[in-house]
Amino acid sequence: MRRPFVRALALVAAAAAIPLVSPAPARADAVIGGYPVEISATPWTVALTSRDRFGGTRAGQFCGGVVIGRSSVLTAAHCLSEDVLGTPPRQVPDLKVVAGRADLRADAGSEAAVRDIWINPEYDGYTNAGDFAVLTLSEPLAAGSVIPMAGPGDAAYRPGTEAVVYGWGDTTGGGAYASTLRASRVQVLSDAVCEEAYPGSADGTYLAGSMLCAGEAGGRDACQGDSGGPLVAQGRLIGLVSWGNGCGRAGSPGVYVRVSEVARALRGGR
Ligand code: ARG
Repeated sequence: MRRPFVRALALVAAAAAIPLVSPAPARADAVIGGYPVEISATPWTVALTSRDRFGGTRAGQFCGGVVIGRSSVLTAAHCLSEDVLGTPPRQVPDLKVVAGRADLRADAGSEAAVRDIWINPEYDGYTNAGDFAVLTLSEPLAAGSVIPMAGPGDAAYRPGTEAVVYGWGDTTGGGAYASTLRASRVQVLSDAVCEEAYPGSADGTYLAGSMLCAGEAGGRDACQGDSGGPLVAQGRLIGLVSWGNGCGRAGSPGVYVRVSEVARALRGGR
């Protein structure tokens, strides 16, 4: 079953005003099967935060995002849904993009206010198609934090390509949200494998034109809380964390927004 973790979190945070992290000690390991990374190695990886909605322990992190222009951050459309936020996104009083900070408990980097929110009007919460949105920041980030997006036909989409996914999400599948940025190595899988894994159910439907899937026999994967964050291969952004059945399960790879299609949609004038 699809577990929209963030919805549960918003309800919990709203009901009890408790921080989203369980009081269990922070696990050494975000993402499943990952390793810690310095923000300098991945300056385009940002956290979407609202302390008002999600509590202050981890700066209010609830999703990831990617810097695709000095003032433009790409994320998942579902991250900005009322389901997740408990309120329409424009009514979140302190929605921010935290850049240049790997440890959410520290105050490195910057917290940028969001000036504009664009959510793909074609996003379909049932199939998960078109799961992307763009935040425009009030002040630009450094040019060095921008990652190029893969275009249609990019060689990095070939099955077998080694890719890395980044995030502060659940490291266990059991709700252990990371306080420090993690990365996990996964392989781009073929559309045939992805279609077989997700022919269409409550989890979502794999749509080859606008999604890609990636995983690894060793259980490496993204997980809840990583949504909207980057999947990078060959120095280019190829995917955004979107959905999956559980995390790191054999036969249930992670599904990502196919960024080449985002590039096309954004160019086509939004
Ligand atoms: N929907 C999740 C989120 O909101 C991301 C799930 C990714 N799952 C996976 N197995 N790769 O954070």
